[in-house]
Order: sequence, then C-alpha cells, then structure tokens
Amino acid sequence: MRIGVLTGGGDCPGLNAVIRAVVRKGVEVHGHEFVGFRDGWKGPLEGLTMPLGVEQTRGILPRGGTILGSSRTNVMKVDNGVERVRENLEKAGVDALVAIGGEDTLGVATALSKAGLTVVGVPKTIDNDLGATDYTFGFDTAVQIAVEAIDRLHTTAESHHRALVVEVMGRHAGWIALHSGLAGGANVILIPERPFDIEKVCAYVEQRFEKQYSPILVVSEGATPKEGTMTTQSGEVDSFGHVRLGGISQLLGDEIERRTGKEARATVLGHIQRGGTPTAYDRVLATRFGLHAADAVHEGDSGVMVALQGTDIVRVPLEDATRELKTVPVERYEEAEVFFG
Ligand code: F6P
Repeated sequence: MRIGVLTGGGDCPGLNAVIRAVVRKGVEVHGHEFVGFRDGWKGPLEGLTMPLGVEQTRGILPRGGTILGSSRTNVMKVDNGVERVRENLEKAGVDALVAIGGEDTLGVATALSKAGLTVVGVPKTIDNDLGATDYTFGFDTAVQIAVEAIDRLHTTAESHHRALVVEVMGRHAGWIALHSGLAGGANVILIPERPFDIEKVCAYVEQRFEKQYSPILVVSEGATPKEGTMTTQSGEVDSFGHVRLGGISQLLGDEIERRTGKEARATVLGHIQRGGTPTAYDRVLATRFGLHAADAVHEGDSGVMVALQGTDIVRVPLEDATRELKTVPVERYEEAEVFFG
C-alpha cells in the first residue's frame, strides 16, 4: 500500500512526532510505503509531493512545526476540488491518506471520505476544541508556554503595580486561557464561551489592587464583551471564513485604565504558543496517535479519526470530531471563578 500524509491548518507542536510514528509503524511493521503531501490540502490539490520514509523522519520527534508544511487551503471552496484531489492521488499511486489537522482539515477529510476516498484523520490543534477526543496534541505545550509567560508577568506586574492582560490563542474555545489561567494563578480569565461584563472585570481588578497585589488577566483572543458594553474590531477572513483575531487584550487594557485609573498593559503571546518543541506529554500523545493511524490505514479503515478517550486511543467517525466544537462547559469555568478578584 502507498499512503499519503499531510498536515493542515495552524501548525502545532507534535506534528512531526505523528508523522514519524505513522511512517515508522507503517514501514517497519506493516510494510507500506509513504509519500508526503506538502502544505495541507494544497498538496493533494496541486499534486505537490515530497519523499517520506524512515530516513526523512529521523530526528524529528522533538522538532516543532511540520516537515510537510501547512496551509489553510479549503478543497471544498475550489472548483472541482474533490476531483482534482482524486486525480492527483491516482497519479501519485496513493491508496490512502492520513490527514493530520483540526476542525477545518478534518472537515475536508470527512467530505472526501464520503466521496469515496480512503482517509484516516489525526486530531491536532493547540485549541483542544475538537469533539470526540479528550485532548489534542499541542494543547499541553501551548498551555505550558502560556503558564511560563504568566509566571514571569506576575513579578513585573507586582514591581510596577500594574494590571497585566495576557492574550492567548483560542478562537472559539477558551481551553488554553482556562488551563493556563488556573495553572498561572490568574485573577480573571475571559473566554469566548462567556461574553464578559467589563464592569465586573474592573471590579475584580480593583479588588486585587486593594489586597496589595497586581492583577493578571488571561484573555482568549476570541473573547468578546457583552453586547453593547465595549467596542471591538473585526479583521480579514481566511478560506474557511475565520476572522484573523488579535487585539482584545489591548482594548481591554485601555478600557481598564479608563475605568479604574490604574495602569494596564497588554501582552499578546500569539504564535509563540505554537512554535518550538512539544512537551513530553504531547510527544507521547502524538506518537500514540501516529501508531494507531498507521494501524487504521493498514486495516483498510476510512472515514475515522484516532482519538484519546481516557487513556485509550480509539477510532471514532470523522464526523463525530467535526460536528460540534468542544467548548468549555459552564461548570469548568465556574471552578476557575473562585479565584477571580
Ligand atoms: O487553530 C489554531 C490557532 O492557533 C487558533 O488558536 C488561532 O486563532 C489561529 O490558529 C491563528 O491562525 P493563523 O496562524 O493562521 O493566524
């Protein structure tokens, strides 16, 4: 069997660990050969390939990014997209695809498997918002990076008696903000699932200053104020219709200064959260996903995604992963609220 592998969407620490594991098990245990498709769905769409064997995957376990490259190309938005992918897979002699990605990449994988192509998905996103899996790899690394930043911000905030607003990634789901805020001892955590009340936020800030401490606020890039309470901005849209986010921390800082008279500064962690080496947890999870994806393809499975449930890696229908985003439940947010103010 000849198997194609691609990585799509925002990159994420652990992608190379998955690629290495799929290839190692696929070649050495099952006797298959591999081809890499470059830059997400752009690869199969335009026939962009690269050699992918045990040789190419040596030494990549701890490396951030993806040796295959990535993009946010949406096959479904391109004329004859599905047919072009089918033709290019045939030309490359590819019998099955392993697609490593988040909601968008796996959404395309779902549509292609329904169109009769053999596709197995691997869940990736630092946002941890894919359904049907307890965790996605990359999330633990992103949280660790954010916590290290928050720890550092605490000390400088105390020295200058300032409020510091830390903006972390998370377009629709606040998992990174929730976990890094809890682990980093934030005084306010704002997530997309719960539009915030700016008056309440300012009250928490003032309470914290009254206790002679400087507040640290962790805010997801996708967090929004309750309607009509604060002006926000909108940006460019990508091929999956997502607005380019960034900037809520600055707006929030300005508003806090205006309302409380205390100095407030913003720090945007941005792509630092996605770069560099994966944590040990993410390396293990990514490796296990890769091994199980190789088994799924070998057994002729299609339209499935490997997923973590408890401590087991299982296979779930691709559709279950992309039907609904896994957002932060109310009760999880309420646990964190005990520490606000
Ligand atoms: O999907 C993962 C993610 O990191 C989101 O948290 C973030 O909104 C988005 O990607 C940023 O994408 P880009 O790097 O394309 O701007």
